[in-house]
Amino acid sequence: MIQTSTLPKLIAGNWKMNGTLAALGELDAIAAAAREHPGVEVALALPATLLAPAAARGTGLAIGGQDVHHKPSGPHTGCLSAAMLGEAGASFTIVGHSERRADQAETSAMVRGKAMAANAAGLKVILCVGETEAERSAGHAAQVVRTQIAESMPDGASPDWLTLAYEPCWAVGTGRTPTIEEIGEIHRVARAQLVELIGEGGASVRILYGGSVTGDNARAILSADCVDGALIGGASLTAAKFVPIIAAAADT
Ligand code: PGA
Repeated sequence: MIQTSTLPKLIAGNWKMNGTLAALGELDAIAAAAREHPGVEVALALPATLLAPAAARGTGLAIGGQDVHHKPSGPHTGCLSAAMLGEAGASFTIVGHSERRADQAETSAMVRGKAMAANAAGLKVILCVGETEAERSAGHAAQVVRTQIAESMPDGASPDWLTLAYEPCWAVGTGRTPTIEEIGEIHRVARAQLVELIGEGGASVRILYGGSVTGDNARAILSADCVDGALIGGASLTAAKFVPIIAAAADT
């Protein structure tokens, strides 16, 4: 039987390079919705500059970073360590987002190092994988995802701190999504591989789907095989768009 994680569904937002202090008002309504649906875990990956002010707001929402350096300190201009994120209020960080894999040429080996550095500093991790459009058209989506998972998998991976996110690159920010069957197909492959790689715990690692999730399609996507939540970019920027996705997760 294909197992779905027994952990609560996780609805995670990723604000990317959006939001200044003025945007933090959105957190209050998002936090209120999270309190209304205690069976759903809600998290927001914010620009690093907003972590401390968001934490000071005291909404109780889990907040996190969008990337982290693989080293604890050193001459790495512009980078942030896991301890720095944690001190600013982060409880987790995203690693390996397709925009960083593409724009900063991050490899799976680098992503693995980042995940391990985050865990060493006590941060939870959302690790992203996903194929490009050309890879899907060539029929290689599942194999590409398998390779990325194998090469990115941190040592000591456990459902206590690791979440996987399947985000087809061509669906991120485009308004296009795979079919529900296609999503289920990759999530089943990822689930089997997690069990293969880390044993029993692999059955409980949450696998999120990400890429153009909205209030309109969330219910169907969250009902697909082995989908344990969602990672949301554009539709996480305002409570008006994000709250319906939290509500959909509460119903599925
Ligand atoms: P999107 O982004 O929801 O805007 O497609 C998803 C993501 O990058 O996590």
